[in-house]
Amino acid sequence: MIYDMAQLLKISYTNRFAVGAFNVANSEFVKVVVDAAEAKNSPAIIQIHPLEIELLGDAFVTYVREAMNRARVPMALHLDHGGTLSDVLRAIRNGFNSVMIDASRESFEENIRITRQIVEVAHMVGVAVEAELGTIGSNAGSGEGGTEEILYTDPKQALDFVQRTKIDSLAVAIGTSHGIYPATKEHSIQIDRLKAIRDRVGIPLVLHGGSDNAESEIRAASQNGIAKINLATDMKRAFFRRLRQSLNDLPNDYEAFIVVPEATKAATELVGHKMELFGSSGKAKLFF
Ligand code: 13P
Ligand code: ZN
Repeated sequence: MIYDMAQLLKISYTNRFAVGAFNVANSEFVKVVVDAAEAKNSPAIIQIHPLEIELLGDAFVTYVREAMNRARVPMALHLDHGGTLSDVLRAIRNGFNSVMIDASRESFEENIRITRQIVEVAHMVGVAVEAELGTIGSNAGSGEGGTEEILYTDPKQALDFVQRTKIDSLAVAIGTSHGIYPATKEHSIQIDRLKAIRDRVGIPLVLHGGSDNAESEIRAASQNGIAKINLATDMKRAFFRRLRQSLNDLPNDYEAFIVVPEATKAATELVGHKMELFGSSGKAKLFF
């Protein structure tokens, strides 16, 4: 069923685990997330990026909402990296119950001004808002954005930002980048910085760039204030790697029900594993 996002994150934050937010770019991924969530008795968030909406069209969201309504576990529908008021209004019209406004590349004051405007509009219609302070990194192969150099979130600024914008959740830059890290790139999640932010702001925090990080760090982040973990590339990689193999193995097969299921299965297993790692597995019961 579709569950209120602010409430969903309050429960995961208070109980010190994170709910996975998975980017869907076709109907197979919707099935992957719903099936994994039901199998693990876990809450889940489906999120769609504006570039994915461009690819899929508004009617796709109706299908996603129907699939979520039928699910036996709590689910929220979130706009990932909304860039403009028009992205946000389009999402609200399509029935998203949560939006991100990403003005993280603007100055601190401009980020606050833009975010406040979105909060005023979204809260009028009961839609939750996530914003980002600091910038997370960006690796090749991900279209999610980010910057070459990470601009780490400052805990003192974070409190000011949260108080002045009245957002429901804050995306923090603590060492992750979108996508798969090049072998030569050193990366780690700064758990001490996360704890300092958590102790100051007291609202659910969001980790972007959930793919390809050390599992011990993801576990620690989930237990120390991160209530939502965005995950896209690891799931897409599991799916498309297996699909590529099936297409090579079965060069003369054109039926989706022959070619696609192994890829769906690989992605479902991966998402189920992430739900265990994030600590959300078995937690659906907390939401009723
Ligand atoms: P990854 O692609 O690294 O999992 O990041 C996803 C994300 O942050 C979406 O907003
Ligand atoms: Zn992101």
